[in-house]
Amino acid sequence: MDDDGSSSPSPLRVVICPWLAFGHLLPCLDIAERLASRGHHVSFVSTPRNIARLPPVRPTVAPLVNFVALPLPRVDGLPEGAESTNDVPHDQFELLRKAFDGLAAPFSEFLSAACAEGAGKRPDWLIVDTFHHWAAASALENKVPCVMLLLGAATVIATWARGVSEHAAAAVGKERSAAEAPSFETERRSLMITQNASGMTVAERYFLTLMRSNLVAIRSCAEWEPESVAALTTLAGKPVVTLGLLPPSPEGGRSISKQDTAMRWLDAQPDKSVVYVALGSEVPLSVEQVHELALGLELSGARFLWALRKPPGVSDAGVLPPGFEERTRGHGLVVTGWVPQISVLAHDAVAAFLTHCGWNSTIEGLLFGHPLIMLPISSDQGPNARIMEGRKVGMQVPRNESDGSFSREDVAVTVRAVTVEEDGRRVFTASAKKMQEIVADGACHERCIDGFIQGLRSYKA
Ligand SMILES: *[C@@H]1O[C@H](CO)[C@@H](O)[C@H](O)[C@H]1NC(C)=O
Ligand SMILES: *[C@@H]1O[C@H](CO)[C@@H](O)[C@H](O)[C@H]1NC(C)=O
Ligand SMILES: *[C@@H]1O[C@H](CO)[C@@H](O)[C@H](O)[C@H]1NC(C)=O
Repeated sequence: MDDDGSSSPSPLRVVICPWLAFGHLLPCLDIAERLASRGHHVSFVSTPRNIARLPPVRPTVAPLVNFVALPLPRVDGLPEGAESTNDVPHDQFELLRKAFDGLAAPFSEFLSAACAEGAGKRPDWLIVDTFHHWAAASALENKVPCVMLLLGAATVIATWARGVSEHAAAAVGKERSAAEAPSFETERRSLMITQNASGMTVAERYFLTLMRSNLVAIRSCAEWEPESVAALTTLAGKPVVTLGLLPPSPEGGRSISKQDTAMRWLDAQPDKSVVYVALGSEVPLSVEQVHELALGLELSGARFLWALRKPPGVSDAGVLPPGFEERTRGHGLVVTGWVPQISVLAHDAVAAFLTHCGWNSTIEGLLFGHPLIMLPISSDQGPNARIMEGRKVGMQVPRNESDGSFSREDVAVTVRAVTVEEDGRRVFTASAKKMQEIVADGACHERCIDGFIQGLRSYKA
């Protein structure tokens, strides 16, 4: 690396290895494309079926992105072909983590071989995801510096890291966050420090990865979370750099068939009339809660497009309440297959987004300035929802504190408060537009990537 400024610096060679979840694989692919579009070489390491399910890389940068497929080791009890959190129910995540740990040896071989290729071919950096303690160990062994990726909001990370860093603790409380978690959420989160059937808890994975990394990169920017980003300049003594929010390209990037059912249905709806309902691709609701949500949508009278993920083990016939589709035909559509979420959110007919508040979905909803109706299910979704509620971009569906359940009446009231009732609607829409200005500011996020690369180049061990 020449950083004396006398000639343009040589491109970096970077290896990126995301967690086995599409909410991680897709943002990592996005990072890979952003690095490649600046001329850097990226090796993207995952498992064969996950790589096969990724959208194609943009042709202009494809020659610089090299996919490395490491077969996922078999583990008793894990279904054949399961390679991501989408493929297994929540209670099998520990099995997936166990299989994932089996990638340690093949990954180490891959990295050693890449390092043995000699001058000019050696990876300059390894970018690992949150749970990759063994990949970070392999980086240490091969003397390749390592960045740990944290794909959640800085405020949420600052909250979780409380106790790790005094500075992080200082940011907590400025925004509504994990401090106010209802008990059903706290109980689920405690699994991170108790569940260890895979041999290690999630918290241990996180801390080991952090200890073994040289830099931390977060999916955020100072414009989005000024106080938390400022407070998180270091995490456990590691410098923290921002990656920007990685918003998807507003036109949806990948081309969508004109025949797409959801898009055609939206074309026939009035402007700003439809609630788009999608609770992510992981951790589905129980069938009872799916029914309650359905009946709540019906009760609200709102037009809706629902991208429904079936709970595992439920028949097609049993997934919705009896007669629901007949009664809502004309103003509602349920789609159980893949939905082109970005194109849907970009459609003029959409008025609001009923979301689980995964970080990716939250960013996607705000990219189009939609007010949010929030129904968090797991991990960082509860804290994300509280932050967004604090910023007045929408409302959460009221929940039972102890088991997280909700009623159809409360779904209907919340949908109407965000989309129909004038007072609420005006405030939520105005705040969502304010958030949109930051999320849709492409130049701001590109500057973050430039800063990130600068951080990689200037790092001295
Ligand atoms: C998530 O975000 C990335 C960009 O970081 C985007 O490419 C992807 O389509 C998004 N959607 C999902 C469902 O993960
Ligand atoms: C899992 O946790 C239990 C209880 O804390 C502990 O006794 C056990 O050693 C742990 N197992 C592993 C593999 O860390
Ligand atoms: C909340 O859930 C708990 C546990 O399922 C139940 O005992 C309680 O009655 C529920 N509270 C309300 C207000 O529905």
